[in-house]
Amino acid sequence: MSSVIYEKDADNIVHLILDKPNAGANLMDQEFTDSFVAAVEKLQNDDWAGVLFRSNKSTFFAGGNLDDLYATTKENAHVLHNMVTRLKDAMRTLETSGKPVAACINGAALGGGWELALSCHYRVALNKGVTLGLPEVTLGLLPGGGGVVRMSRLLGLQAALPFLTEGRQFKPEKGKELGLINDIVETPEQLVESAIAWIKANPKAQQPYDVKGYKVPGGKPNNPSLAKMLPIAPAMMRDKTKGTLPAPESILCVMVESLQVDVESAMRIETRYFVELVCSQVAKNLIGTFWFQLNEIKAGAARPKGFDSAKVTKVGILGAGMMGAGIAYSSACKGIDVVLKDVSAENAEKGKAYSQNLLDKKVKKKRLTAEQRDATLDRILATENAADLAGCDLIIEAVFEDRELKARVTKEAESQLAPSAVFATNTSTLPITGLAEASERPANFIGLHFFSPVDKMPLVEIITGKETSEETLAKAYDYVLQIGKTPIVVNDSRGFFTSRVFATFAQEGIAMLGEGIPAAAIENAAFLSGFPVGPLAVTDEVSITLMEKIRNQTIKDMQEAGEEYVLHPSDPVADRMLEANRPGKLAGAGFYEYPANGKKHLWSGLKETFGGEAEFELQDLKDRMLYIMAIETARCMEEKVLTSVRDANIGSIMGIGTPVWTGGVLQYVNQIGLPAFVARAEELANQHGERYAVPQILKDMAKNGETFKD
Ligand code: NAI
Repeated sequence: MSSVIYEKDADNIVHLILDKPNAGANLMDQEFTDSFVAAVEKLQNDDWAGVLFRSNKSTFFAGGNLDDLYATTKENAHVLHNMVTRLKDAMRTLETSGKPVAACINGAALGGGWELALSCHYRVALNKGVTLGLPEVTLGLLPGGGGVVRMSRLLGLQAALPFLTEGRQFKPEKGKELGLINDIVETPEQLVESAIAWIKANPKAQQPYDVKGYKVPGGKPNNPSLAKMLPIAPAMMRDKTKGTLPAPESILCVMVESLQVDVESAMRIETRYFVELVCSQVAKNLIGTFWFQLNEIKAGAARPKGFDSAKVTKVGILGAGMMGAGIAYSSACKGIDVVLKDVSAENAEKGKAYSQNLLDKKVKKKRLTAEQRDATLDRILATENAADLAGCDLIIEAVFEDRELKARVTKEAESQLAPSAVFATNTSTLPITGLAEASERPANFIGLHFFSPVDKMPLVEIITGKETSEETLAKAYDYVLQIGKTPIVVNDSRGFFTSRVFATFAQEGIAMLGEGIPAAAIENAAFLSGFPVGPLAVTDEVSITLMEKIRNQTIKDMQEAGEEYVLHPSDPVADRMLEANRPGKLAGAGFYEYPANGKKHLWSGLKETFGGEAEFELQDLKDRMLYIMAIETARCMEEKVLTSVRDANIGSIMGIGTPVWTGGVLQYVNQIGLPAFVARAEELANQHGERYAVPQILKDMAKNGETFKD
C-alpha cells in the first residue's frame, strides 16, 4: 500500500496526495519513505510541469512516527539512519529538479510535516486551523528531515533559533511575515488553485539557497557579527538547560556546522545528530512521558468508563482569594459561567479583578480583542450571596485551610444545588474523606487540587475520597480537560501525592542546611539537577509558617490516630528560622533576603546560624534530592495512593518541579535501573537515616527484574 497517491491533472501537474492507509494522520515512517521514494522515481521517468502536495487527512502531515523512534536503539540505529537518508535524498532530488513544487497546507504541519513543506518551493496555507513548526526539541529530538538545515538557511541562524531550539510554533500569518508562507487562502479549493496558478507562472523553480550567490540572512557563522555571538550562545543555552537536555545543544551544533558546508553535506550532518539524539536516554524519557503517557491521560486513562462525557456550564467558586480567583479565570476563559463567592462583595470583586488584570495584559499584547476580554469578564459574577450558586453543576471551594470553615461552606452551598451537582474542595492538605463528612452527598464530593499560580500551572490533582462515586470522578476529569489542564487521579492520603513528595524535596534541602552544607551549594545542586527552583527558595515561596502549620496539624492528627511523629532533621532548622523572624518571601525575609530594589539573594546570616562549612560531594546532594522524591513516590505506589506510573511521572514534572530530563519521578528510577537504585538508596539510608529506607515494592521489583510501567 502507498501513503502517497500519484495523480496527474489536465495541466500536466502531478498531485502527490498524502494519504496514509488506515490511519487518521500522515506519518513519516518506513511506509511513507517507500511511497515517497517511489513517487520521486516515477517523476524522474515521467513528463510533468510541476508537483503539488496535498493531504487527504484533516491535517497536512503529523510528523515522525514516535513508536518507531521510541523503539530505535544504538543496535538498530542504522535502519533509521538509512531510512532518513533515503527520504532526504528523494526530497532533495525533487527540490533540485528545476521544476516547481508546491505544498497545499490544509491543517497542522508540525515536525516532519513542516519539513516536507519546507522542501517545496512554494507554500500556501489555509487561514484557519493551521499550526506550523518544529516541536521536536520538546521531545528531546531535533528535526531530522531537513528542518534544521532549511530553516537555518532561509531565516538565518539567529532568527531560526527560537523555532528550532525552543520548538516555537506559529500560524500562517506569522509564516508569511517570515517569508516561509507564500500565500494564505480561505478554502481547500483555493489552496489547489493558488498552487496551480503559481506553478503555471513559474515553470522553473529553485530554492533560494540553491541560487548562486545566495546570502544567508545574517551571514554564515564566520560573519563578524555572528562570530561575536556564537562563542556565547552555548553558554547561554547551558545556563537554561544546565546541560541536562542534549537536544537544544545538538540543534545549535547542526545549525552552525550545516551553514558552513553545501546542502548535501549539511543534510548528512543533521541526520547523524538526529539519530544520536533518537538513541539517547533523555529522548526516551521525554517521548515516553510527554507523548505516550500524556496522550493516555488526555484520552481518559483514569476516567471511569461508561459515563457520558460531561460539560460544566456553570461553576461556583467559594473563596475569591489567590486560588479561587485563578480557578475563576481559568474556567471563564474556556467559556464557563462562573459564580465567584466570598464573604463580602468587595472580596469577591477583588477576586474578579485578578481576571481583569490578566485579560488586560493579553489585550495589550494583542493576543485578545477588547470584546473577547469583556465577554470573558461578563461570565464571572462576583457575589457575597450564596443564593447565586443555584444552577451550578460544579462547586469548587477554595476558602481558608480550616476544617470547620470548609464544613460550613459545604453545607451552605449544597442547600442551593441540584442533587446531581459535584462539590469539589481545593484543599492542599486535608484528607478528602474527612471533609466529605460535612456533605449530605459524599458520593458527589471530590478533591480538585490546583497549583499556584492557577493560570500558569497545567496540572490538577484529582483526589477521590472513600465514598466518591465513579460518576463524580468522571465529571471532575472532564472538567479538568474542559479547562485545558491535565488531570492525574490519586487516592486520599495526607498530602495526597504531590504535596507529600514535594515536601520531601523541600525538607531535604533544609536538612542539608542543618548539616552545615553551604546554602549556595544546596541551591546550585538543585539547579544542576534540572530543578527549576532550589529547595530553599521554594520553601520561602510556600513560607516556613505554612510548613510549620502543616507539621503541627500532622502531629495532632497522628496523635489522635495513636501514631508517633518522627522528627525530620529539617524541623529544628525551620524552627530556628521562625525564631529569627524569617518566615519566607511574603514577609520579605526567609532563607533569602528580598531587597526592595534589587534581586533576592541568600541571607548572609545562614552561615552564622547553621555553619555552612561542612564538606560535601556535589553528586551526593543531587542524588539526595531526586532519590528522596523517588522513594516517597514508590511509597505512594505501595500504599495505592498512586495507581499509575503515568500519573506519577506527569504529576511530578507538571506539579512539583521534578526535572524534565528525567521523564518524571518513576522514570528516573527506571533509567537508573531498579537494582542500582535500591543499592544507592540503601547507602543513603545508612548515611542519612530511615527516611531513605527502601520500600518493599522497590526491593521486589529489583529482584524480579521489573521496571515501572502501566
Ligand atoms: P486565600 O487566603 O488567598 O483565600 C481564601 C479566601 O476565602 C479569602 O478571600 C476569604 O475571604 C475567603 N473566604 C473565607 N471564608 C469564606 C466563606 N465563608 N465563603 C466564601 N469565601 C470565604 O487562600 P488560598 O491561598 O487561595 O487558598 C485557598 C485554599 O486552596 C486553601 O484550602 C489552600 O490550602 C488551598 N490551596 C492553596 C494553594 C496555594 O498555593 N496557596 C495551592 C493549592 C491549594
